[in-house]
Amino acid sequence: MKDILERLEERRAQARLGGGEKRIEAQHARGKLTARERIELLLDKGSFEEFDMFVEHRSTDFGMDKAKIPGDGVVTGWGTVNGRTVFVFAKDFTVFGGSLSESHAQKITKIQDMALKMRAPIVGLFDAGGARIQEGVAALGGYGEVFKRNVIASGVIPQISVIMGPCAGGDVYSPAMTDFIFMVRDRSYMFVTGPDVVKTVTNETVTSEELGGAKVHTTKSSVADGAYDNDVEALLQVRRLIDFLPANNMDGVPEIPSFDDPNRVDDSLDTLIPDNPNKPYDMKELIQKVVDEGDFFEIQESYARNIITGFARIEGRTVGFVANQPMVLAGVLDSDASRKAARFVRFCDAFNIPIVTFEDVPGFLPGTAQEYGGLIKHGAKLLFAYSEATVPLVTVITRKAFGGAYDVMASKHIGGDINYAWPTAQIAVMGAKGAVEIIFRQDIGDADKIAARTKEYEDRFMSPFVAAERGYIDEVIMPHSTRRRIARALALLRHKETERPWKKHDNIPL
Ligand code: HXC
Repeated sequence: MKDILERLEERRAQARLGGGEKRIEAQHARGKLTARERIELLLDKGSFEEFDMFVEHRSTDFGMDKAKIPGDGVVTGWGTVNGRTVFVFAKDFTVFGGSLSESHAQKITKIQDMALKMRAPIVGLFDAGGARIQEGVAALGGYGEVFKRNVIASGVIPQISVIMGPCAGGDVYSPAMTDFIFMVRDRSYMFVTGPDVVKTVTNETVTSEELGGAKVHTTKSSVADGAYDNDVEALLQVRRLIDFLPANNMDGVPEIPSFDDPNRVDDSLDTLIPDNPNKPYDMKELIQKVVDEGDFFEIQESYARNIITGFARIEGRTVGFVANQPMVLAGVLDSDASRKAARFVRFCDAFNIPIVTFEDVPGFLPGTAQEYGGLIKHGAKLLFAYSEATVPLVTVITRKAFGGAYDVMASKHIGGDINYAWPTAQIAVMGAKGAVEIIFRQDIGDADKIAARTKEYEDRFMSPFVAAERGYIDEVIMPHSTRRRIARALALLRHKETERPWKKHDNIPL
């Protein structure tokens, strides 16, 4: 019996070594942790239960029958994050570059199936070169099985991908179908094909960083939702994100004890809006002053910064925040901002996370660049996402709510449940100057007349009261009481029910 136990320990120790000491050293020398070290950091101490440690590939081509490594390049199992169940798979770059074989795929799909069955989140840690080249179509088939499960699980359980090394092929397409992608700066890359193939096909010379580094994907492509300086920081932040997320689409948001009084007033908010309506202010200050303990987890912080999206809590319960940012492009809605916010709204709606919208938007960004880039379709995504959302929607207009953007940003008309405005709100088809130049075009040469017309327009429309008179705004509130108002609104809406006609699914303008 002792022998058998020892043999098990030996086999386990061998499997834990993955591709061997030398490759582990190389992994560390590149500033990367190993798959198992990463899992240890992600999960609560001692909570990891590993599955399929002894699985090997079955390939015999290209001498692969002599190159078998237990585990086959991916470590899989489950554990807990602050006591809540999470499934995990971590690509082991020390074993065939973490590439995916048929057996490797089966390990991942087993975990995907279990996560779905248990209705628990799944986290994939990626550091891998895509399909195992020696296996050909068997590997491609394996990816197909993974992709299909990504899609079936989408909207049922949260799926999070962390890119922690060079990733290509299927190891970027599977993450692309999950809810959130995070990257590690300077050592993780995502591309469908790497710099060598790019050179061959397009004759472009480009580095991995330029082609698919964290900066590219968090600022230009919007493929990634955030980037961190190293493995440890990335994994700790993913733990933080998981704390905000529901386990699935039925359980509702998690609730943690809150020591921040929901009735807390913040007098500094009464002077947040500058006297000059064209002067910016930082909308993040409002979010931080309103939410529990100022704790805000921002999604896509570096992309389309004219809109802010992220998770926070009110009375200990998760809330999604969408807010125009007057500090960047005056908070205008453009294609990028619309896509970013639409995806966030849809995530919140799928997982029953109430949405609070802070609005200060001068409209949609005009111009050929935007129109040629499909602003109509991208703007429609956000309009569509808010309109289809059935979660509680609370909106606060702090200043400008102009034109179509007024409708889009969770207005009463498209489903806003509780719509507040600060006394500084200006709700109109457009700003006074633009409006007067159109409707009083005949007076343009006469400065006095134009000034009088502008004043007339401002007095009539540049306030929340015309909208409030119609009931489009439920109440004009004091800025200092915003937290209390939102907390009460969310408490009221906790058991909101909405009936919608049956459909197979909608047809959001993609
Ligand atoms: C088998 C692979 C591999 C792969 C890497 N390795 N990728 N083995 N199949 N796809 C092995 C290497 O042979 C090497 O083995 C070890 O992993 C480390 O690789 P290096 O190249 O030395 O590392 P590095 O210089 O850091 O480069 C990493 C890399 C590069 C950028 C990932 O290896 C690479 O470009 N790999 C190929 C990427 C690719 O084109 N994959 C197919 C995509 S198609 P040793 O024994 O020396 O340690 C695909 C289809 C899916 O995925 C469908 C999508 C819709």
